Amino acid sequence: EKGGYEHFMLKEIHEQPKVIRDTINSVVKDGRIVLDEFGLTDEEVKALSQIYIVACGSAYHVGVAAQYVFEELTSIPVRVELASEFRYRKMPLSKNSLVVIISQSGETADSRAALTLAKERGIKTLGIVNVVGSNIAREADSVFYTLAGPEISVATTKAYSTQLIAAYLLAMQFAKVREEITEERFAELLEELNTIPDKVAKILEDKERIQWFASKFSNIRDAFFIGRGIDYAVSLEGSLKMKEISYIHSEAYAAGELKHGPISLIENGTLVISVLTQQALFEKTVSNMVECKSRGAYIMGLTSYGNYSVEDTADFTAYVPKTDPLFAASLAVVPLQLLGYYISVAKGLDVDKPRNLAKSVTVE
Ligand code: M6R
Repeated sequence: EKGGYEHFMLKEIHEQPKVIRDTINSVVKDGRIVLDEFGLTDEEVKALSQIYIVACGSAYHVGVAAQYVFEELTSIPVRVELASEFRYRKMPLSKNSLVVIISQSGETADSRAALTLAKERGIKTLGIVNVVGSNIAREADSVFYTLAGPEISVATTKAYSTQLIAAYLLAMQFAKVREEITEERFAELLEELNTIPDKVAKILEDKERIQWFASKFSNIRDAFFIGRGIDYAVSLEGSLKMKEISYIHSEAYAAGELKHGPISLIENGTLVISVLTQQALFEKTVSNMVECKSRGAYIMGLTSYGNYSVEDTADFTAYVPKTDPLFAASLAVVPLQLLGYYISVAKGLDVDKPRNLAKSVTVE
């Protein structure tokens, strides 16, 4: 049942090229993104004045990445909210808004409550859901099914990756309907999106390098993940993977926040993982790496091929293929999934069923 892999998590990490491709193919037909079955009319998309993305855990991290993508491609303001907070806030929800609930299981209690609240307020809802027939899939006005297939490992990998793809496709299609993107840019993005599965497969070919690094660092106590923009979103996810399955205390910071407090924790040997796929923010994050390094941190850089100057500062560097900056989370997350996985394995932990956690959090 684990298809020859030692754990479900590793199997699911390897399924990513296929499930990403399946999710793309489910809505892309002849160079167009077809969302007809979603019940969202072009008029509604044109009239949108606000999007709220509401989710928990890794699905929330997808929302953080998606926010940057929506803002880059469309003029729709986006807010990302933790479902457990959103449900108890007295947020004024603007008319003509869309609440997007992201949930692998479609059963998460807080996400369900957020959906109910949105519906009670008369706001249109869209679920990005993996489990067919789940509560959120049934209750939301429209559903974008991710085609990740059953995910057994408590730590999500392939579902997260397909949720990102769903978010890109929605943002691209909304931009197109609202005439906020040129035909050329749309075609270019679609073409690039189709290369993501092969690029993920390429990263997986290099997994021994991450395994080696993990074996060296399996006994650390703390890790810090830093990045800017979409790299910050990836840092959040990398940090969650690390803590949930490796039991290593880890935190993710927007790199620019370091000097507002967290840098006081950096001392000799502290592991700092710096994500730098966003070319426009590259030098800014490098300067944060330098600040950590000068305080004795051991730096792992994670960047795209070509950015070899990272090695001037980083003690160890992992590379991912180049892609459009908007899609970079889909690639950068893979080495971080592998890192969490291999540290967990090196420590002899129960990778697929980490302590205190459930696959589906159906109670508050
Ligand atoms: O089923 P959902 O997507 O609603 O689950 C949300 C979170 O519970 C989930 O992403 C959790 O954070 C994972 N264990 C992360 O690996």
